[in-house]
Amino acid sequence: MNGYRDLRVALLGCGSVGSQVARLLLEQGDELAARVGARLELIGIAVRDLDARRDAELPRELFTTDAERLVLGADIVIELMGGVEPARGLILRAIEGGADVVTGNKALIAAHGPELADAAEQVGAQLSYEAAVAGAIPIIRPLRESLAGDHITRVLGIVNGSTNYILDRMDRFGDSAEDAMRVASELGYLEADPTLDVEGYDAAQKATILASIAFHTVVPVDSVYREGITGVTSAQIEAAQSANCVIKLLAIAERITAADGTVGVSARVYPALISREHPLAAVHGGKNAVFVEAEAAGELMFYGAGAGGVETASAVLGDVVSAARRHVIGGPGVPGSSHADLTVLPIGEVSTRYQIMLAVRDEPGVLAAIAGLLAENGVSAASVEQTVPEGSEGTATLVIGTHTAREADLAATVEALRDSAVVTAVTSVIRLEGNA
Ligand code: HSE
Repeated sequence: MNGYRDLRVALLGCGSVGSQVARLLLEQGDELAARVGARLELIGIAVRDLDARRDAELPRELFTTDAERLVLGADIVIELMGGVEPARGLILRAIEGGADVVTGNKALIAAHGPELADAAEQVGAQLSYEAAVAGAIPIIRPLRESLAGDHITRVLGIVNGSTNYILDRMDRFGDSAEDAMRVASELGYLEADPTLDVEGYDAAQKATILASIAFHTVVPVDSVYREGITGVTSAQIEAAQSANCVIKLLAIAERITAADGTVGVSARVYPALISREHPLAAVHGGKNAVFVEAEAAGELMFYGAGAGGVETASAVLGDVVSAARRHVIGGPGVPGSSHADLTVLPIGEVSTRYQIMLAVRDEPGVLAAIAGLLAENGVSAASVEQTVPEGSEGTATLVIGTHTAREADLAATVEALRDSAVVTAVTSVIRLEGNA
């Protein structure tokens, strides 16, 4: 029709995202053809179970269990199966066969992104994965292309919606961690294995991808420092509120300078305080946002749905249109970029601010002793607040906010505080991120 050529599109996987991608490809065929200059013909959908229920009505004859055969006949392969194998093998086969590949598979890209990018580059194919990080939010292409002429200095992301939902309930409705988690689970927000969300593994996979692209460096997923939200307490939420802050699970990728002068990359995930004045503090419920700081562009924020079938399908289709246009115009795909090859630095080299909460003996000389311990370890206090809860019998609560300190110095300080005779307990140590 209209003289368009056909581009054959194969879909691997038909879960909540895949079924919406298939539906939109079929329903919007004419419009997509006009945008691309070629018709996108969905030639098949590979699934494990032909009889499984789908979220969209799709022609039965499109379904096959023979994924290997399907990819060999395609110009564009969309991989939405999840998991590492057989997705990795199928993608490599598709690339070898000359196809462009679009995937939303964060676990696969986090673990094997460089291998797949190399394979694509060798044959001039395009590998795209906008949907792998923060669902519908355009962030991969802005980092890879729109900001390609700038120097990114830091990326702060709320990239896991379910943990944001849990922390938001604790902050706004006073839920306990257990109650908030139960509601998130009832709403189906958590992964089948909830530890992927609440222990920060999902966010760490996304941090790897963001750090690698932002800093043109291969950042292995096991080099990402990771803490989840399971240790976040209602007392920490209250202390955050007193400090005009909110606690968010942040995925951070940052260019930092180590104590010996090495310029490198830090990639880390942890629950952190962020000022209520910071734009990320306004990210409520299950939403995601990525805050980018760049030398020339300054501060940018990308906000929206981080999950959901049709929302994530939007990101997948954007990649499909881009790959299809490349087929029409010709030329190689946008290559992966790891030329900077920076050192990935450990958490000990990170400098940030901290909030330390202590139970201490309420008697003369205690504050001086604690100030001395901070000073001995090169950590400077920015604020100290003491409360004596009713009935606390000679014990006070101290909340210390620090100036920027090196993580290694902070760790030594905390150890010294734990050993100190005037400190009954170190009840919380949490980082404070963001410039606001
Ligand atoms: N488990 C993820 C989240 C889904 O909660 O954001 C999207 O990757």
